[in-house]
Amino acid sequence: MTRRHWLDWILQGVTGLYALVLAFPLLKFLQSGEGEAEEKVTQIKIEKNVIPDPGTSKIFKFGSKPGIIIRRPDGSVHALSATCMHLGCTVDYDKSEDKITCACHGGRYDASTGANISGPPPAPLPLLKLEEKDDGFYISKA
Ligand code: FES
Repeated sequence: MTRRHWLDWILQGVTGLYALVLAFPLLKFLQSGEGEAEEKVTQIKIEKNVIPDPGTSKIFKFGSKPGIIIRRPDGSVHALSATCMHLGCTVDYDKSEDKITCACHGGRYDASTGANISGPPPAPLPLLKLEEKDDGFYISKA
């Protein structure tokens, strides 16, 4: 390989990186418009069969944020934000403990109220309004 080939190769690499640097803000801008539309979501419907048995849960998308719907062992159903109040990881339901847990730093929340129980989360998970109808669960901001 000649020195000219190396220079061409390096120049193409630098040009490609420059194009990526220019494209990144444009992509973020275009994504923000989509995010705004998703923020306007006020209600979603979840089919009842996604949490068929006690001790099951499902993460769902509420606009641009994750939510979680839980059917606890006593049969009660709850919907909460699934964004951890510590640093924003997505939480999950731990059936064995009947608690909502965050794998990032070990935060734990009450599965009914969202109250922060232990770990670093400084605040409870926000509850979502849940209406159970014949054709599914209707979830909206509380
Ligand atoms: S992000 Fe959930 S405990 Fe830190």
